[in-house]
Amino acid sequence: MPESSSSVYQRIGGESGIARLVDQFYLRVFEDPDLAPFFAHASVDRLKAMQREFFAQALGGPFVYSGRPLNEVHHGRGITLHHFQLFTGHLLDTLANFHLKPEEIDRIISRLNVEVDQIIGRSNSGE
Ligand code: HEM
Repeated sequence: MPESSSSVYQRIGGESGIARLVDQFYLRVFEDPDLAPFFAHASVDRLKAMQREFFAQALGGPFVYSGRPLNEVHHGRGITLHHFQLFTGHLLDTLANFHLKPEEIDRIISRLNVEVDQIIGRSNSGE
């Protein structure tokens, strides 16, 4: 399993492939009227740098994510499952340009779905 996720990182094109993926992905996110307002005050350079690290690590590349914990970054922003699904939908559309196998795309989306409670705040619902 670790071997196959490392090959997804390679097949996307390694570090430069991840950079292209993140750029193309956020173009779609920022054009989505339901998602764009969340990013109105974000530092886009930092966001993309952190997202490159996050994706590279999540897909088995030689990177360690150095950003803030995802629940701390996302809680309190009013992000719902609807927004999360739009976000991963844009990732799916972007990944269509990267010549991956369907099972590789499934693995990427499954990896992100693991984070849903960190993003939409259900993991802190008792607070
Ligand atoms: C699996 C899905 C997601 C992942 C992996 C993810 C990952 C990240 C990462 C790594 C950062 C940068 C953290 C840092 O600066 O230390 C970030 C920031 C941010 N994310 Fe997400 N995110 C996800 C979903 C979403 C969704 C659905 C929204 C809103 C619709 C969202 C809104 C934001 C915003 C607004 C920031 C910028 C915070 C700031 O610096 O002002 N994210 N995200």
